[in-house]
Amino acid sequence: MGVPFNDPREEVIEAWYMDDNDEDQRLSHHREPKEYVSLDHLSELGVISWRLNADNYETDQDLKKIREERGYSYMDFCEVCPEKLPNYEEKIKNFFEEHLHTDEEIRYCVAGSGYFDVRDRNDKWIRVWVKKGAMIVLPAGIYHRFTLDTNNYIKAMRLFVGDPVWTPFNRPHDHLPAREEYIKGFVMKEVGDHAVNAAA
Ligand SMILES: [Fe+2]
Repeated sequence: MGVPFNDPREEVIEAWYMDDNDEDQRLSHHREPKEYVSLDHLSELGVISWRLNADNYETDQDLKKIREERGYSYMDFCEVCPEKLPNYEEKIKNFFEEHLHTDEEIRYCVAGSGYFDVRDRNDKWIRVWVKKGAMIVLPAGIYHRFTLDTNNYIKAMRLFVGDPVWTPFNRPHDHLPAREEYIKGFVMKEVGDHAVNAAA
C-alpha cells in the first residue's frame, strides 16, 4: 500500500490494521508484522484529515477556512482523562462501543492523543492514531469507536454544522438512511474513484 511521501499530516496521524486480541484497548494493537494504512486509503473510506497548528487555533486562518467551507458553525472542546471527565470509566466504555452517527464526527486534537477506530470495506478495524495538530472527519454512517491511548489524555475541539447532535447508534443500525448513504457512497464504490478530495 503506497504511503504518500512527505505529507505533513503523517507526523500527526498514523493508521494501521488492528490485531484481534482483547488486551487493553489503549495499547496500539498492531498486527505482526505491522500493516499500515495510507491517508489516501482513509479518504477512500470518507475519512478526511488536515494538519493544523494547534498552538494557534484561536486565530488560525486555515481552520477558519475549513470551518467556512464546510459550514462548521458550532465548536466546543472535550477533554478526556480520568481527572476531568465525570463518569470517566462509563464514558470510556461508551466511546469504545461500535457505533455510527447520522452526521459527520469532526474532531481536532489540540493536545494529547487518541485512537479513532473505523471499519474498512471488509469490516476490518483500522486504528487511526490522532495526535496534536490532527483534524479528522469521520463521515456520517461509518461504524467507528474511540479510545484514549496509554497517555490517557486528549483535548479535542468538536465541530458541527448547526446545532450539535452527538447521538451514537450502536451497531447494528444498518437501516438508517445515513448508513445506506455511506454504503452507497463509500463501500460500494470502486477503489480509485474518489468521492472525496481531502485537499479540496
Ligand atoms: Fe462517534
